[in-house]
Amino acid sequence: MNQLGTGISIIGCGSAAPATSLDNQALTHIVETSDEWIASRTGIRERRVASPQESLAQLATEASKNALEMAKIEPQELDLIILATSSADDLFGSAGLIQAKLGATRAVAFDMTAACSGFVFGLVTASQFIRTGTYRNILLIGADILSRWVDWKDRRTCILFGDGAGAVVLQASEKDNLLGFELRSDGAGYHNLQLAYQPQPYEIIPGVDVSQGGYNRITMNGQEIYRFAVKKVPEVIEKALFRANLTSDQIDWLIMHQANQRILDAVAQRMKIEPEKVISNLAHHGNTSAASIPLALDQAVREGKIKAGDVIATAGFGAGLSWGAAIFEWG
Ligand code: ACO
Repeated sequence: MNQLGTGISIIGCGSAAPATSLDNQALTHIVETSDEWIASRTGIRERRVASPQESLAQLATEASKNALEMAKIEPQELDLIILATSSADDLFGSAGLIQAKLGATRAVAFDMTAACSGFVFGLVTASQFIRTGTYRNILLIGADILSRWVDWKDRRTCILFGDGAGAVVLQASEKDNLLGFELRSDGAGYHNLQLAYQPQPYEIIPGVDVSQGGYNRITMNGQEIYRFAVKKVPEVIEKALFRANLTSDQIDWLIMHQANQRILDAVAQRMKIEPEKVISNLAHHGNTSAASIPLALDQAVREGKIKAGDVIATAGFGAGLSWGAAIFEWG
């Protein structure tokens, strides 16, 4: 039991995805690939893609409204909004616009970036504000539109990603349902997965150059990322479980970043977690980066799979390199 009111409960979730679906067959028209190759190597069958008219703020707002409704919280009751994303509509951040769209007038709002680990890193960040007694109601959103940044001519990456948003509401509570976590970074592997700024010199006055470039497309060393995920993710889940004073057989559900079915299977196998406990929506959404965990969580909750009191192990991993796990009790 934590000090009164500084425990953490996750009391609502919501999600949103663009209407347009692109199946593997459609991708065979733009790159040399096949449904069989993509499905057998990744588990992905289709992914949602946002239209030019759809913004990240719109998707995130829709997911947030669903989460607030489930949590029975009015937007004005929110103290803080954290948007985990790598693809904000605006480099200055999109959280403020979401705050305005929701009418969450009391809430302070900011973006944070930890790529596909963004949701787990955001969960831990949000929880610190509750633990210190600073804030009571927090909205955490994971949202990404990576279709904007994928190289649609690169068959090694364009088959993987999809767009979406997921959100959860965290609330201060007497009982502490965030049982343990572990976060890690290793910048030495940064080059294996990038969406990097490409400088282009611009001479303002003779002798004074600045850069007026743009962002490159996503580049990835798939095999390195695969190896990294399968090795490092079980380690952080074990560490988070240790902190929670639990063992892997006490987990009801494993919700990992939805990157590749083979990664989910390999991690579950290493940890001796039954396949029935592994939540996967990869087939229909692909890798939605920071959105993938809350999107999968929301679907499993609304399908009635995940129930109040269930113990969930969640783990994110991706660019940075970054990875982390958190163990929490739902509801
Ligand atoms: N269709 C058909 N053939 C393909 C495709 C494709 N879409 N993509 C690659 N190939 C070919 C390659 O060119 C290569 O051919 P070659 O042997 O003639 O050169 C062959 O298939 C094997 O390529 P690999 O890259 O070795 O394929 P691999 O089995 O490693 O699968 C994959 C690639 C699916 C990307 C895998 O490495 C993977 O999933 N890695 C993890 C990636 C990941 O999860 N990234 C996201 C995590 S972080 C984040 O979410 C931001």
